[in-house]
Amino acid sequence: MPLFPESFLQEVADRNDIVDVVSSYVKLTKRSGANLFGLCPFHSEKTPSFSVAPDKQIYHCFGCGKGGSVINFIMEIENLTFPDAVAFLANRAGLALPENGSDGERRRRERMLSLNRDAARFFYSQLVAPSGAAGREYLAGRGISAKMTTAFGLGYAPNSWNALTGAMKSKGYTEQELFDAGLVRHGKSGGVYDTFRSRLMFPVIDVRGAVIGFSGRIIGEGEPKYMNSPETMVFSKSHNLFALNLAKKSKRGYIILAEGNIDVVSLHQAGFDCAVASLGTSLTPEQARLLSRYTSEVVIAYDNDGAGQKASQRAIGILEKLDLKVRVLRMEGAKDPDEFIKTRGADAFSLLLEKSENHVEYRLRSIAAKYTLDTPEQKVAYLREAAAAVAELSSAVERQVYAMRLAEQVGVDKSVVIDEVERSRAARLKSAKREAEKAAVRTGSRGRARDRSIRYENERSAMAEEGVIRLLYLDPELVNEVSLTPEDFTSPLLGRFYTAVREKALAHAPLSMAALGGEFTGAEISHLTSILQQPENLANARIAMRDYIATIKEEKYSAAAGDDPLAFAEQMRNKKGYGG
Ligand code: CTP
Ligand code: MN
Repeated sequence: MPLFPESFLQEVADRNDIVDVVSSYVKLTKRSGANLFGLCPFHSEKTPSFSVAPDKQIYHCFGCGKGGSVINFIMEIENLTFPDAVAFLANRAGLALPENGSDGERRRRERMLSLNRDAARFFYSQLVAPSGAAGREYLAGRGISAKMTTAFGLGYAPNSWNALTGAMKSKGYTEQELFDAGLVRHGKSGGVYDTFRSRLMFPVIDVRGAVIGFSGRIIGEGEPKYMNSPETMVFSKSHNLFALNLAKKSKRGYIILAEGNIDVVSLHQAGFDCAVASLGTSLTPEQARLLSRYTSEVVIAYDNDGAGQKASQRAIGILEKLDLKVRVLRMEGAKDPDEFIKTRGADAFSLLLEKSENHVEYRLRSIAAKYTLDTPEQKVAYLREAAAAVAELSSAVERQVYAMRLAEQVGVDKSVVIDEVERSRAARLKSAKREAEKAAVRTGSRGRARDRSIRYENERSAMAEEGVIRLLYLDPELVNEVSLTPEDFTSPLLGRFYTAVREKALAHAPLSMAALGGEFTGAEISHLTSILQQPENLANARIAMRDYIATIKEEKYSAAAGDDPLAFAEQMRNKKGYGG
């Protein structure tokens, strides 16, 4: 029975940013990449091998192998037990400790999610019902297509004090449940009334596909323009983004941050399927961290007014702290992306994106400015440096395009520049690999050999098991693709961790080292952190997950069958006959 509900642990972790907390003990400096480095406070050293990852909210020392969440850091450095460290951090953030973690919390959370889903269905049914004409007309007036209406699950809250209440009660939900979900309010006479009335409804869907709350936009003019669900046990405005569930699947490689929900829908409709909006707050650090899980680049497309400009400035600061690449769109002649697309078209918006987008061009221009390009020596020096910059692009197509441009600019054969770019790239990859190997040696076989209690029986399977856990931690939605049981894990520790991560993922509960930490020892946490710390390619997460699972199963069958090929064949036959 856990001492604290995980939502509380999450809250404690959210309000105690690991960089802030660690910084009051360790001087952190930034090197390349997203992580910060400093001298490890847990062992003596002269060169910094202690790292803090702001996006994952974990620390890890490549020297002594210690690591974990902000809670583990406080346990270690203040020499406190887990509950005391939680209390310490709660106090630091001005949070009151909860009375008692209740068993029913998870059930209540699930119930609220199902109520939200039913409410979203109800709002949608109202939009297509005869009485939903006002909603339909508004959508038509804003040029929102039927396709977008279904993609976003848009709906209509009718002009009634109790339509939703009645519908949900008949599905078996209580007034208390409706109230807890923020769908009704208490009236003066003691009854309840629908929170959302006469509004266009946008379900807020989290990255795992659960309806966690709603934004309701007034039909036409009036105040307040937007109403959002209040904070509930499944919804927090500052921790979520509208449409991230869709945007995270985009292939564009960046995320567009807009202000209004209508802007987002309009952008998606025009093909910019990577647009999101914050939910009536200016961008928060938590939202930025969420974004950093799915992208490394954010394009800010706020409204073209004073408030929008100010909000942009704030957002830039927050995003840059997480090492996200940031660009800001300048929309001349339109008040917001929706209006821009309506009046100038999607292609014009693409151009706008490209214009602000060209960080490569920008870099090349500033490199070019250092050289006169009028002597062969100058040209060679310029080409070398520029080729090195182009070599950093991960897309081969992009590298080609810029190599060709360089060739034209300097007046040499394009194959020469392409060769130079690829040579520089190969050198870079090689030195990156060498660095990684050096780091692995420093940590003693990826940070684990130090602890005798954590040894892998089957190294190949364990590596894949680590991969499964890493991917699940980074993208809990993948839980539906993982058919493994804890018994499939050859490492008992990894099996336990898998169980914990899986449970949280299935319950749509927040996932963080801090929330999971209570169930593991310090050595175990350090080990698990070192696993999470390793890079993982989220772009191909599904494929990677399949490969990891295949490896685990392969190892399992070959281990069970030993070296006897007949026994192995037998195993496979049995496996096949196993309910398909
Ligand atoms: N807002 C909000 N809750 C949301 C979304 C936006 O409170 N879920 C607030 C924003 O903070 C901002 C304003 O509403 O102040 C955004 O308005 P706007 O961009 O004008 O919204 P749109 O949906 O694009 O509406 P419009 O059609 O008027 O452009
Ligand atoms: Mn707008």
